[in-house]
Amino acid sequence: MKKLTFSLTGALLMTSQVALAEEHPGAELHKSANCMSCHTAKPYNPKVTDTYPKLVKKVQFCSDNLNTGMFEDEVEQLADYLNDTYYHHPK
Ligand code: HEC
Repeated sequence: MKKLTFSLTGALLMTSQVALAEEHPGAELHKSANCMSCHTAKPYNPKVTDTYPKLVKKVQFCSDNLNTGMFEDEVEQLADYLNDTYYHHPK
């Protein structure tokens, strides 16, 4: 009985981790700003943007150009999402 409870908890934990991975707030911003309309053809390149502060600047740059009206904290969320997904730079 105890064992059963334990494995159920494990399954729940795993499920919530998957949900978290899918729900990075930056992922939603990335989708709604349609960044991939250009960046499918021009993939994010960790060698071009080689530090995290540069990444934030480039996200800000594209966001400004596109007039997304994103707030600074949203730009940072989006940069954090891109860093998790593509860049993996230390912060
Ligand atoms: C209209 C086309 C276009 C759209 C849409 C666009 N970008 Fe860009 N983006 C560019 C171009 C062109 C560059 C290269 C600029 C340069 O020379 O650094 C770039 C560069 C970047 C880079 C650096 C690329 C690298 O290789 O490291 C990042 C990060 C980036 N954009 C993020 C975004 C985000 C986030 C969005 C959505 C809010 C977005 N871009 C939407 C055209 C676009």
